[in-house]
Amino acid sequence: MPNVKFYKNEELPLEMHKVRIVQKLNLVPIERRMEALKDAGYNTYGLSTNDVFLDMLTDSGTNAMSDNQLAAMMKADDAYAGSQSFARMHKAVEDVLGKKYLLPVHQGRAAENVLARTFIKPGDIVPMNYHFTTALAHILEVGANIAELLHDDAFETSSKNPFKGNIHIDKLVDFIEKTGVEKIPFIRMEASTNLIGGQPFSIANMMDVRRVADKYGLLLVLDASLLGENAWLVKQREEKWKENSLGDIIKMMTGLADIVYFSARKLSSSRGGAICTNRAELHQKMEVIIPLFEGFLTYGGMSVREIEAIAVGLYETLDETMISQSPTFIKYLVDNAEARGVPMVTPAGVLGAHLNAAKFCDHLPMSEYPAASLGAAVYLCGGIRGMERGMMSSVRGEDGVEIPSDVELLRLAVPRRVFTLSQMNYILDRLEWLHDNRQLIGGLRWVYEPRVLRFFLGKMEPTSNWPNRLMEKFRADFGDSL
Ligand code: F0G
Repeated sequence: MPNVKFYKNEELPLEMHKVRIVQKLNLVPIERRMEALKDAGYNTYGLSTNDVFLDMLTDSGTNAMSDNQLAAMMKADDAYAGSQSFARMHKAVEDVLGKKYLLPVHQGRAAENVLARTFIKPGDIVPMNYHFTTALAHILEVGANIAELLHDDAFETSSKNPFKGNIHIDKLVDFIEKTGVEKIPFIRMEASTNLIGGQPFSIANMMDVRRVADKYGLLLVLDASLLGENAWLVKQREEKWKENSLGDIIKMMTGLADIVYFSARKLSSSRGGAICTNRAELHQKMEVIIPLFEGFLTYGGMSVREIEAIAVGLYETLDETMISQSPTFIKYLVDNAEARGVPMVTPAGVLGAHLNAAKFCDHLPMSEYPAASLGAAVYLCGGIRGMERGMMSSVRGEDGVEIPSDVELLRLAVPRRVFTLSQMNYILDRLEWLHDNRQLIGGLRWVYEPRVLRFFLGKMEPTSNWPNRLMEKFRADFGDSL
């Protein structure tokens, strides 16, 4: 957000764009929301957008695109091999991320598949700041495992730590010494660590990780899906980088990594993904897998139109007025929700505002999935669709027993330049009401639990008829309001 002060010093995020294409939204009555929730198996992934008012499931593929991105999509070069659209994306990757070898893939998890198949063998362990669901799933699929090496306070939901995504360097060294380098395919750092509330790492920390990687001859892989926002928070929170441009900060971070991969659904407000590196031998190792799973090397499963949108979108991540929009809206939501007594993850991170479901629903045991229950309740009371980021998004232990999640969160994603401030105020209103009535929220149990990534397709049911009681209270308090 640029430096614009308000007369009465109000802290308001100011939109530095205007809206030129709009999509009408539906807010269906709570009785319909109740039906929709039942049909969805109390899993917000199962809802149809016809029944959703504010879709805060994710920012993945839902960020608003710019006029320049849409214009670029019209001049795409449709070719199986050697497309000029790909050449433009390649140039953008070199200019913005500073990497000269590029492999296109259809989305972020496809990059994770390529990395897992190329570098990881059964029995390996991948150290990282924290896992993302799909990264973990691909590592487990090849018979390996992970070690998460955050500082202990990264899991404190109310905190003042500006860099909860930092790797604990002593833990990393200790892990390498105990495990042995031959069982460590690479170190993974995720920008704006998604599952603990979109929390960044600092450049100082990444430099320390690089030093350790060099000492032991290990590769450093950067998940850059949320790199733009991580860079923006570095500029806000890391003294040494306050005066640098986003471009400098991004290049610094990508320069420290041997391999960079990203979901273009996030990084460049488009769809698709890629892996890039400056090391020819690493590129060559991964390259052979692309035609097998993704497509030819100049499209990788993406449409050429999306490739054009990625190229433009990558340059646009350097624009502070664009990249700061979502984090400043998130901060507005988090600060104001906290002021109304709603427990949130602090400091405000990126991607979305995260509700601390364990505290919000402290009357529910972890075995009844408090964050998933809260997700169902938030949808029911406001037509607001969030995403569970806790127990339900985790995996069971090898013995089949549930392991309590490190953090139990409901994420309300704030995709870039999609929502308005009055919509944020509506969310705050419904969250405050729900918090005041939180004792009415009950638990959920599985009806159908898939083997992998269960949160996507799983079905649940309520452990009592609490959704009806919540609906009745809504009607009592809001009358015939939608
Ligand atoms: N890495 C991170 C940090 C992500 O947030 C995601 C996706 C991926 C990898 C996988 O990318 O979806 O293109 O295959 N995050 C989405 C989300 C799904 O809602 O947070 P993908």
